[in-house]
Amino acid sequence: MKIKKLQNLYIYNKNNKKRYIKFHMPGNYGGKNLNKKFRKYMPFFETTEVYGTDDYHNPQGIIKKAEKSTAKLFNSNHCIYLVNGSSSGIIAAISYLFREGDQILVSRDCHKSVIYGLILSGAEPVFSEHSGASPLDYQGIQQAIKKIERIKGIILTTPNYYGIGNKDLKLIVQLCNKYKIKLLVDEAHGSHLYFTDLKVYLANTCKADLVVNSTHKNLTGLTQTGVININAEDINLSELRKHISLTTSTSPSYILLASIAYCTEQYTQIGEKILQKTIKKGNYMKELLDKYKIRYIKEKDLNSNQYLDPTKITLLFKDNKKAKEVFKQLIKNGIIPEFLADNKILLFINYKISKRELVKTAAILKRFSTEEEDILYSQENCFRIRNTGVLTPREAFYSQKEKIPLKKAKGKVVVQPITPYPPGIPILFPGEVVTEEIIKYLKNSNFSSIHGIENGMIEVVKDKFFDDK
Ligand SMILES: Cc1ncc(COP(=O)(O)O)c(C=O)c1O
Repeated sequence: MKIKKLQNLYIYNKNNKKRYIKFHMPGNYGGKNLNKKFRKYMPFFETTEVYGTDDYHNPQGIIKKAEKSTAKLFNSNHCIYLVNGSSSGIIAAISYLFREGDQILVSRDCHKSVIYGLILSGAEPVFSEHSGASPLDYQGIQQAIKKIERIKGIILTTPNYYGIGNKDLKLIVQLCNKYKIKLLVDEAHGSHLYFTDLKVYLANTCKADLVVNSTHKNLTGLTQTGVININAEDINLSELRKHISLTTSTSPSYILLASIAYCTEQYTQIGEKILQKTIKKGNYMKELLDKYKIRYIKEKDLNSNQYLDPTKITLLFKDNKKAKEVFKQLIKNGIIPEFLADNKILLFINYKISKRELVKTAAILKRFSTEEEDILYSQENCFRIRNTGVLTPREAFYSQKEKIPLKKAKGKVVVQPITPYPPGIPILFPGEVVTEEIIKYLKNSNFSSIHGIENGMIEVVKDKFFDDK
């Protein structure tokens, strides 16, 4: 890696020192939004477990105290810090909660770390018929609970990457309590919403058993930080910590740990003010987009039981080709979106983005205006790939494998998640069969990277074939 190139990441035109306009994570905006005290003292946190610094894997002192104040911020019963991303929290939570033979209702829009957790635990994912190709809703969950014989848990992702969240979480928690089913919520994209009116719909407010919150995506923690919030009384904290240790270094970075503590202080003091400012900027951007007839996901596109994060703007274009063209234009002008996926470009609004930067971005987008009715939005379109597993993720992952060209993989069983990144939502779970539809979809997609496919080759279970008709 050329270190000089890395240093210049924030400049796209060296001659006149033009800075990139950022519509992406992390929420600390390249360090600009970090708690000022943390910025000042950051180098001093480069330490390890010595006298006075406590022990991350068995906290009794300052780490335990810091975790307590973060639990207060999220209104949870307990909180455990994560230094290996929300991914490690999700994997640990699944490994703690579920075992081989358990059936888990999973929303199809889950992050790939959910699959890694299922591989570790051996549990079997099940998708409800009602919403097998889309995020889980209350109705789908109600129906599925009655049908799935060995159901032990539900894993929900809300809000999702696009900022679409489930308003029925309180009812879902009641349902889970009634049937003694464990509920794990991946709320990695929702931590900032605790400082808005949408707080009432969030997982810690509704008391879901375990909730994973990112502190780097939309708050101001350093990248790789997050927390697990614990709300159920019957969770054994020291057992859960052992599962976190499975996925975490024995030398956790104190810089990362301290960044969560300082982020907690910052949002306890001025979280609401930050979010008010951010929402105001998001609304201003939407006004510009409306004026220039640029289509984006609006509340009216959603179901009545869904909410929309006001700090996320998902631009919609007629087709993948048009979206790619717009994406290229934005990059050429030094504007970096969160990602391009199919016909969508996602913009994260940060409270430090300036009005001038929003105006400049809208002026470029203006060239691509469309009539609203020309682009219909359907959530089914986002998750239209349906599939059924013939092996559990664990069975597939540990089976004998072979590498074959994707175009010849119809009827074969995949051994690892096939995941466009970002957004990191798998198209195929390990143990699922490759279909003609999936091959066509992957061929025509415009994702920047697809984990699980390398130079057109895919890994499948050796000597296993299923007819998908
Ligand atoms: C929905 C969701 N959950 C979890 C994660 C994992 O978060 P992290 O990158 O902090 O490990 C991501 C990452 O993008 C995500 O989109």
